[in-house]
Amino acid sequence: MKLIVEKNYDELSKRAAELLAEDIRKKPEIILGLATGSTPVGTYKELIKLYDSGKLDFSKVKTFNLDEYIGLDGEHQNSYRYFMNDVLFDHINIDKENTYVPNGKVKNPEDYCKEYDKLIEDAGGIDVQILGIGTNGHIAFNEPADELSAGTSIVNLTQSTINDNSRFFDSMDEVPKTAITMGIGSILKAKKIILLASGKNKAPIMKKLLEGDMISTQLPASFLLLHSDVTVIVDEDAYKG
Ligand code: GLP
Repeated sequence: MKLIVEKNYDELSKRAAELLAEDIRKKPEIILGLATGSTPVGTYKELIKLYDSGKLDFSKVKTFNLDEYIGLDGEHQNSYRYFMNDVLFDHINIDKENTYVPNGKVKNPEDYCKEYDKLIEDAGGIDVQILGIGTNGHIAFNEPADELSAGTSIVNLTQSTINDNSRFFDSMDEVPKTAITMGIGSILKAKKIILLASGKNKAPIMKKLLEGDMISTQLPASFLLLHSDVTVIVDEDAYKG
């Protein structure tokens, strides 16, 4: 894994956006894998700035998001579809038809999971995947467990993730307990992966990930060690604590 340490969150966001912008310019019809959570928001803001100044064109870009809460439709303020529209898609010239976020209200989740992986495959596969990381080492919603799903699947969220994500909801009870998430295998199929981590609360898990050489289903992010093109961008807080 290639490690880049930036001074603070703003620098991290600029760096990530520069890397993405370079790839989008090289391949205008690029397929991006996008993440939610607070970490990539700064990167999305920087991409919007580049678009506003005429330096970036999203008209041919296609995106696939990693995950969605089960039970929330795209209109719900806490759904990841709503979030993505709000922080990125509504501000750039991307065709919404080209933006995919798993459907949290789907009737046949198991069939739908297979379809989601097939959609990505049929589109040509993800060129660049952006990832955040949970304080428990999850990527997307692949939570530490004895077994991890290779493909997109429905998962139960752990209490630590429910606690972490409750800050976006009015109360803990409102946080969905299940989600649909791209699997570890679906993520590892991306040609290139950029993992972002910011803030002191991510320092313990980043230390474990960066110093470790073992792959464990109890540390889902450790599977990234199997990929040949992963760039980790951290700020000093997430690096040093
Ligand atoms: C959620 C998302 C993850 C994200 C994580 C970290 O659980 N499913 O994809 O990486 O949050 O979020 P944050 O960036 O807010 O710390």
